[in-house]
Amino acid sequence: MRTRFLASVACLSLVANPQISLAAPPAGPALDAAVEELLGRMTLAEKLGQMSQASRQPYADHLRDTKELVRQGALGSILNATTRDQVEEFQRIAVEESRLKIPLLFGLDVIHGYRTLFPIPLAQSCSWNPDLVQKAARIAAVEATAEGIRWTFAPMLDLTRDARWGRIAETVGEDPLLASRMGAAMVRGFQGDDLSLPTSMAACGKHFVGYGAAEAGRDYNTTLIPDTELRNAYLPAFKAAKDAGVLTYMSAFNDLNGVPTSANPRVLRKILRDEWAFNGFVVSDWTSVDELIPHGFAADGRQAAQRAIAGGVDMEMVSPHYRTFGADLIAKNELPLAFIDDSVRRILRVKFQLGLFDHPFTAKETPRTSKNPLSAEHLAVARELATQSIVLLKNDRGLLPLSSATKSIAVIGPLADSGDDMRGCWFCESSPGDTITPLAALKETLGPRAQILHAPGTKRDIDDSTDAFAAAVKAAKKADVVILCLGEGRDLAGEARSRAFLNLPGTQEKLFDAIAATGKPIVLVIFAGRPLVFPAQFAKARAVFYAWHPGTMAGPALADLLLGTANPSAKLTVSFPRTVGQIPIYYNHRNTGRPPQKENVGIPMGTPQDPQGYYSKFIDVHSTPEFPFGHGLSYTTFAYSDLQVTAPSGTNGTLTVSAVIKNTGSRDGVEIAQLYTRDLIGQITRPVRELKGFERVPLKSGESRTITFNVPASELGFFNEDGRYIVEPGKFHVWVGGSSTATLIGEFEL
Ligand code: BGC
Repeated sequence: MRTRFLASVACLSLVANPQISLAAPPAGPALDAAVEELLGRMTLAEKLGQMSQASRQPYADHLRDTKELVRQGALGSILNATTRDQVEEFQRIAVEESRLKIPLLFGLDVIHGYRTLFPIPLAQSCSWNPDLVQKAARIAAVEATAEGIRWTFAPMLDLTRDARWGRIAETVGEDPLLASRMGAAMVRGFQGDDLSLPTSMAACGKHFVGYGAAEAGRDYNTTLIPDTELRNAYLPAFKAAKDAGVLTYMSAFNDLNGVPTSANPRVLRKILRDEWAFNGFVVSDWTSVDELIPHGFAADGRQAAQRAIAGGVDMEMVSPHYRTFGADLIAKNELPLAFIDDSVRRILRVKFQLGLFDHPFTAKETPRTSKNPLSAEHLAVARELATQSIVLLKNDRGLLPLSSATKSIAVIGPLADSGDDMRGCWFCESSPGDTITPLAALKETLGPRAQILHAPGTKRDIDDSTDAFAAAVKAAKKADVVILCLGEGRDLAGEARSRAFLNLPGTQEKLFDAIAATGKPIVLVIFAGRPLVFPAQFAKARAVFYAWHPGTMAGPALADLLLGTANPSAKLTVSFPRTVGQIPIYYNHRNTGRPPQKENVGIPMGTPQDPQGYYSKFIDVHSTPEFPFGHGLSYTTFAYSDLQVTAPSGTNGTLTVSAVIKNTGSRDGVEIAQLYTRDLIGQITRPVRELKGFERVPLKSGESRTITFNVPASELGFFNEDGRYIVEPGKFHVWVGGSSTATLIGEFEL
């Protein structure tokens, strides 16, 4: 079937973009010399201009004439110019009309695709496949750079333990190791092998740092994170991005322990520059310099500029305070010129590294992403990644994959045929019409082999009308099976989309009940940007897929899984709460002095039990999640045995853990094998489990394989209360299995 879909779009390979041969930009000492030479010729106003970024669409009166600012050398970067024509309009002024002809750097939120959309980042992480994620980022870069955009505001590396926060959609899961691997893969994908090639784009690790800990999951809210937790949980993915060569970071909106992160020398200077030796630059988030005023951290724009520059933000996004007040702050000795020079050096260095001075424009012969049909090659990767991102949560009595005896299928729900909603929160230059919806894909795939009956039931995710229920019930009654596509559309996920309730919105729960009352078997497919809470629907559905927002190839990926052309392999990368009241909930929590006991398990949700036992528990719900981190089903089954553990020879040694995995079912499949450890006694209390390795293991039906994890002992350490990374000798437990609740256990002593 794959080929039929692909034949419907014109083949245009952008991955195999003919490389234009370029003069290599300066590197090493020559790069430093080029930067110094240019810096030496700049006026203070021009320097402050390089430190200023404006949006193509002026958001306020003072940006009315962005072009004039470019002409004056008062801007170093533009965001939200989305196509080549828009980019070139500004670039021409910069390199032809400004005094020093310094090219602009164009930034855009190319988060999970430019024209071809991949699944949202949270979904991508459920593939546990960094190589494929890297490929997707590479494709996004190829498409965006073809339009002259050489800087993406990705990857988002925020760790969150809160599904109420709409931006969980943009994260890569709750685990620091997995997020590190995914983030590094994205950096490599965006930036490519050679920064100066026209298809490379600077990546941006964001939001530095702690933004995902927003209190109550309310976006932009205060964060209070102890230093040990900051270093052990929140910073590792950012550090991994640094190690992968990320060229920029973005400071965040939140205040962290009382100091806004967009004016926070402790994180931006001490950690990023001094400890990590980062030599790229930091951009603020959108008006986050100006927002120091409502934070109560600056009295006015002048003080905001002073505190942000002193804090280590090299470039100000959108608000104009650097270029408005910078010169006066220097004149009055309220800021050292050295700070300005340091920031400008960092920005110019990135521009040189990207080869912008020699090639400020995209070569004419580069095929236009925005004007040409989608590339078949890119769509194939989007389909593969979507297939590997959709998690099977239930398959009662093997309802799936649908058998060839299924002659009629009712495809119901507001999301069944919504190309727009499949796109996810950062849809960039895609169009809803590019998406192949679940309905379209099932029709195309099954052709005359099965009758497809479609009725949305409710028009949109948040509709409160039940008027269209009757038609949906009628369709369900006529069908052998119902595919019920519910959840959240793209507009309920992402920035400023915090929710206090995590149920299916609108009348969708009622729609579910109306369909369930027909007695027809239901395959519930949930599309969403966050974990939702749906225990009643889960209990009644025969099968459940958690599909997230899968992108352009949503339909074909889902059809492959429903019909068994592909076997589900994805596993959750966030813990799903049973109810909002359990939040924050995450697998790598600490044990407490009074861990929950066995008798605290089995409590019907919302029903207070005898409040016996003074343990860390709820009296009206289990303490465990609905679905644990790492969980996901397949059409086959896997068994783990023969755990072998070889302790590291010392803190410089390597832990070796092996186990045998057998495919015990009747289909070929891929298992995501996971390794967890627990450091039993520590200087600070340690998580009950920590992911230390994972591998996608393809196994034919009946096949067994020994998998081996080698973990350097140095990766078994943690940051202590003094901010020092230590590897402590002592006893550890170790588990290998298919989720964070794996039971095959061993131990070793370090
Ligand atoms: C978001 C960033 C984004 C920026 C530019 C902000 O509102 O927080 O993630 O990169 O806008 O669009």
